[in-house]
Amino acid sequence: MPAVAVCRRARLEDVEPLFQMIDGYAQRGIMLPRSREVLRRQIDDFVVTEVDDMVVGCGSLCRLGEELVEIRSLGISEGYKGRGLGSLLVAELVKEARDLGIPKVMALTYEVSFFLKNGFAVVEKDIFPEKVWTDCIHCPKQHACDEIAVLKILN
Ligand SMILES: CC(C)(COP(=O)(O)OP(=O)(O)OC[C@H]1O[C@@H](n2cnc3c(N)ncnc32)[C@H](O)[C@@H]1OP(=O)(O)O)[C@@H](O)C(=O)NCCC(=O)NCCS
Repeated sequence: MPAVAVCRRARLEDVEPLFQMIDGYAQRGIMLPRSREVLRRQIDDFVVTEVDDMVVGCGSLCRLGEELVEIRSLGISEGYKGRGLGSLLVAELVKEARDLGIPKVMALTYEVSFFLKNGFAVVEKDIFPEKVWTDCIHCPKQHACDEIAVLKILN
């Protein structure tokens, strides 16, 4: 029987698999690290995707103002990519923004074509407010950021 993917809100018991996955990507410089403590504190901001009861992906929404949220810590485990799970997570996070009445969803990413396929457009980084950059103090590349800003305007 084909595996069924489920998207759901994260729970405290997901902290360890989330930590392992995010840390793996952080060590390769494609995500900012999140400690277990931070994940515990921010767990309500996360959604996860499960296949056969195993967490294989996550993403979070960070509110940056009345009109803007950022997708952060979006990742799918190796071996589960290319099956539509990342798109499923993005759709869930976008739905959440819509439900909250927030019209703009942005991300900073290296995966530009993935976001284009999911209805985002590439934009200049300097259109975003200061708050977007507060997380960057934790990034080793803060003075030479090569990530691309993408934005989806909900209507
Ligand atoms: C980016 C990421 C979340 C995509 O997840 P995924 O489950 O592999 O993506 P999907 O299967 O939903 O892909 C959806 C579409 O985007 C395409 N796509 C996915 N990753 C792509 C990539 N790296 N480059 C180009 N296209 C890509 C797929 O081919 C698919 O297109 P299709 O619908 O025409 O077949 C995943 O590759 C990942 O975890 N990357 C490492 C972490 C990261 O960079 N996260 C982004 C931080 S903002």
